[in-house]
This record gives sequence, C-alpha cells and structure tokens, in this order.
Amino acid sequence: MKIFIKTYGCQMNERDSEAIGALFEKSGHTLCDDENSADVLLFNTCSVRDAAERKAKGKIGYMRKLKNRNPDLIIGVMGCMAQRLGDQLLAELPHLDFVLGTGQLHKALETVENIARNRQRVSSTLPSLEEIDMLGEHRNNSWSAQIAITRGCNRFCSYCIVPYVRGREVSRTRDSIIAEAENLIANGVREILLLGQNVAAYGLNGDIRPPAEGHSPFAELLEALNELPGLERIRYTSPYVSYFNDRLISALASCSKVCHNIHLPLQSGSDRILQAMNRQYTAQSYREKVASLRQAIPDLTFSTDVIVGFPGEEESDFEATRELMNEVGFEQAYIFKYSPRPGAKSALLADTVSEEEKLRRNNILLDDLQLRIGKKLKNMTGSTVEVLCEGVSARNSSRWTGRTGTNFVVHFEPDTQVKTGDLRNVRITGCGQVSLFGELI
Ligand code: SAH
Ligand code: SF4
Ligand code: F3S
Repeated sequence: MKIFIKTYGCQMNERDSEAIGALFEKSGHTLCDDENSADVLLFNTCSVRDAAERKAKGKIGYMRKLKNRNPDLIIGVMGCMAQRLGDQLLAELPHLDFVLGTGQLHKALETVENIARNRQRVSSTLPSLEEIDMLGEHRNNSWSAQIAITRGCNRFCSYCIVPYVRGREVSRTRDSIIAEAENLIANGVREILLLGQNVAAYGLNGDIRPPAEGHSPFAELLEALNELPGLERIRYTSPYVSYFNDRLISALASCSKVCHNIHLPLQSGSDRILQAMNRQYTAQSYREKVASLRQAIPDLTFSTDVIVGFPGEEESDFEATRELMNEVGFEQAYIFKYSPRPGAKSALLADTVSEEEKLRRNNILLDDLQLRIGKKLKNMTGSTVEVLCEGVSARNSSRWTGRTGTNFVVHFEPDTQVKTGDLRNVRITGCGQVSLFGELI
C-alpha cells in the first residue's frame, strides 16, 4: 500500500512519524507525498494549542472528498490530539477509520493491515510500556538524525496539555540509545539530536525534583555519546532550566561534540506569572543559570519559548519578560499566544488578555528579536566559523547551506570537495536578516 503521513506539532512528533514510516517500509509498503494517490492517510497530530488542533481537524475533515471518491481509502489519526479526543473523533468524523493515541503508535502498521482486511473502525488510547523501544526505526540515511531518549512529561506546567496526552515520563536505557546512535553513525549520520519533553531529566525515573549537585544521568549519557567515533555533533531539546546543575554544566563544557546552543524555555520573565504557570524557577534563578552556563562556555547561544497573555498577565509582567529576553539576548525565540487547553489547570482561570493584546505583545517581542539578531549577525562579519555542511541551499541552488554549532545558518559557494555532513571552516563575509554569508576556507 502507498502511505501518506502528515505530521503536526513538535520534533517528537516528527520523530514518531519517521519511525512509523520506517515500520511500514520495512514490511513492504511505500511512503508517498501525494495524498491523492495514497491508499492510507495518517495524520500525526498535536494538541498543544487550539490552533494546532483546528488545523489538523480542518485538513482531516477535508479528506472526506477523497474517501467519497475511493471508499477503500484508510484514514487514521494518531498522536496527541488522538489521545485527547479518542472516540470523539470517530464520532465527529464519519470518514475516519482509526484513532491511535500516543501509547499506541507502534500499532499503526498492524491496525492499518487489519482494517484493510476487515474494514472495522478502531480507536485505542491505552498507555503502553512496550512502545518506547519499538519506535527506534529510522528512515533517512541523512547526515543528521533524531533520537527520542525520554517520552512523556511529569512537570505539569499549568498551561500545558503534554503531560495529559503524552503520559508519565519514561527514560530509555542508555544501552538502547547508544546502540541506536551507533547504528545511525554506521549509516552515515554525523549529527544526533536528542529529544525529550524535559530532556535533562533523562534517567531520573520520573522524579520531578531536579537532581542533586554532582548527579546527572543526562550528563553521563552525553559523555558516552561524545566518545562515539564518527559522530561530529550532539544537540538536545528541550531542557528545563532547573536541571542544569554543576555536573551537567561541566559535561557540556568538556564534551567537544556537544553543540554550544541551548534551547532553554523561559515562558515568562515575571515571577508572579512563572508561579502561576507552575514553573519551578524565578527570573533571577534563570538569569543566574544562564550566567553559570556562559561562564563555563563563553560562546554559548540561547533560544527560548515564551508565552504571552497567560491569564492575569499585566503590562508590567509582560515588560519583565521583555526586559529579561533583551538582557539574556536570545539568538532565537518562539513566542506563543496563550491558548487555554481543556484539562490543563490554567484552563480554569479566566483568559483575561484579549486576542488583540496577545498579538500586540507577541509582535513587540518578535520586533525586539529581529533587531537583536540583526545586530548579532552583523557583528559576526570577518569571523571564522565551523559549519556542518547540509547541502544545496533551498533558496539558491548555486549555494550551499551549513550550520554552526551555535546554530547560525551560513550560506556559501561550494567547492569541488564539499560533501553533506562535512565540517568546514567558513569566513563570514556578510549577512541577511536571519542568516550569514561566507566563503569556504
Ligand atoms: N517540553 C517543552 C515544551 C513543549 S510545548 C519544554 O518544556 O521545553 C512547546 C512550547 O509550547 C512550550 O514551551 C510553551 O511555550 C508553548 N505552549 C505550551 N502550552 C501552551 C499553551 N497552552 N498556550 C500557548 N503556548 C503553549
Ligand atoms: Fe509542558 Fe512543562 Fe512538560 Fe514542557 S515541561 S512539556 S511545558 S508540562
Ligand atoms: Fe504537540 Fe504533542 Fe508535541 S501536544 S507539542 S505534538 S508532544
């Protein structure tokens, strides 16, 4: 059968879709990019904001016309929205054949093959313990790959649906992660991105207290990966600020393959709002952690996630966020307008900030960010950076694209030797709005 997979949401979902696709391919099916010629349509969905759900529902609803044309077509919804809404989706969307929640993803192949035989509609949102290692398959023989090292989340930030739809936090064994990495490296992978909702909680057995000083199973994992021959770069996302203890910070500084870039979600710069969000840190402790990290790794760059318009966010709270963002000087930031999620604690609070005001705050932070990035990029002219070569630039086929460990994108003219996955030095000659231009040395 020809399988079309569409993914919504975060990198964890992309990774799950890749593994599911690989399971289908392994048993003789093919993946396709065109929904019109597919025999099976799979939608791996996200629930994190209302907009994410609306987008997926709109698309899935629209697939009814394909089903009308081809009654044999199998349509399934998987992932976080499937977990949240379960049977309700089957009831709302009569052309849907199955719904598989986040603990049932490894059953996608079996479910599709059963439906092809018996045409019975199925919905399952049971949790599962076997899934975690069954989703270790990879498709792309690319220079870069993602490895999920934990699943689920135990932190219960008050606005967030993830702990409800992804379940309790579970870590994989170090051996299975290393084996997956070795296998990828043998197939040409040079960069590994470790994924988890709270990635630095790896190996803490779901304990929500940040680890004691001197203890960090995540640091031990990074050190083990750092030893693997053939691997050039290790990235990870997303860590929670409180888990960066001395043990982890010194591992980050000493592991030469671990990239000098951290995605460190801030959410808000106001202590009052952080507390209402159930984020277990203050603006000051965040600031101090950034300072300790920078002291250990001077060229470290930071990106972040921020929510504007959380219930009760006053102008002064927003200003505190804005100030802290400018002070830290994030090289990248993802700004989200607060979206109440049914089931998450903050949904019980009145959504006090209007859509218009959320948008205004959102735009102010984006403008700050653009100004800041512009300055940083300009200041890099004349410097020499090491990039991992990613291939021909999507925008201009005569150029190549690479990325620095600090996560800046660099465009350059290729020479005859350049290959994807190579590490090369580039002299920066100029910049655009979000990326750098340079020449290979
Ligand atoms: N596990 C990751 C976050 C996953 S969700 C972490 O904690 O780092 C990605 C981002 O979506 C969050 O960091 C947050 O900024 C945003 N987000 C989550 N729930 C939201 C909501 N209800 N409304 C708006 N943004 C939200
Ligand atoms: Fe959501 Fe918080 Fe867990 Fe991140 S740490 S997934 S924001 S509950
Ligand atoms: Fe969305 Fe689920 Fe990821 S809710 S952000 S796809 S974990």
